[in-house]
Amino acid sequence: MALLEIEDLNAWYGASHIIHGLSLSVEQGEILALVGRNGAGKTSTIKAIMGLMPKATGRVSFSGRELLPLPAHARFRLGLGYVPEERRIVPGLTVKENLQIGLVSARLSIDEAEAIDEIARSFPRLKERLDQQGTTMSGGEQQMLAIARAMISRPQMILLDEPSEGIMPVLVEEMGALFRKLKESGVTLLLVEQNVEWALKLADRAVIIDQGTVVHRASAASLLADAEIQERYCAV
Ligand SMILES: Nc1ncnc2c1ncn2[C@@H]1O[C@H](COP(=O)(O)OP(=O)(O)O)[C@@H](O)[C@H]1O
Ligand SMILES: [Mg+2]
Repeated sequence: MALLEIEDLNAWYGASHIIHGLSLSVEQGEILALVGRNGAGKTSTIKAIMGLMPKATGRVSFSGRELLPLPAHARFRLGLGYVPEERRIVPGLTVKENLQIGLVSARLSIDEAEAIDEIARSFPRLKERLDQQGTTMSGGEQQMLAIARAMISRPQMILLDEPSEGIMPVLVEEMGALFRKLKESGVTLLLVEQNVEWALKLADRAVIIDQGTVVHRASAASLLADAEIQERYCAV
């Protein structure tokens, strides 16, 4: 059984029916790229998994547990990490305090000092800035902080919504290396990206969505080589 299985997901914003019978699965230990043009429903899909859509129906199971009946905080607790599109670094809080939020929202009994130490080892740039206000850092550093905050509760799977957006190439490279390392350590990633080529080079498989439903599934390598499909469904 796949780690995350979505079957016939439908989701709404008020009266707007956004996700239409979407099904996909993510295998334990893989990187799945979820791509598609602007407005296709990528963010809404992630939000439905995390319990952040106003209304969602269907089946979403994680590690064999049914997610849709659970509130968002309970889903975090089951081992899901989330890096939202808007980074949501809390103004007025230091880097360290922003990291602590990641532990608090997961409500797990993880030793805080140990967890922050571990994160500091993976993110040398953050280590130097633990006592600095989070929002004084560059956009790329704030994105790294958002990823670190998702990682600190040691989730089994992390959902990332366009992590490379607006980030300098050198940090995008660093981020790619980090994702590879996470995968090696057994963490499963669902990677939503507009930077399709970068995502496909990192991913094992790819799913394309359009108008709120899956229109194409392929290995990342074969989609990378398929300019026609990329042009049809992923051109901005
Ligand atoms: N808060 C909202 N209220 C109403 N409609 C929304 C809201 N957010 C997104 N939508 C609509 O839902 C659709 C899918 O959006 P989204 O999931 O953000 O797509 P993507 O992440 O692929 O760009 C779009 O048509 C968008 O306009
Ligand atoms: Mg989006």
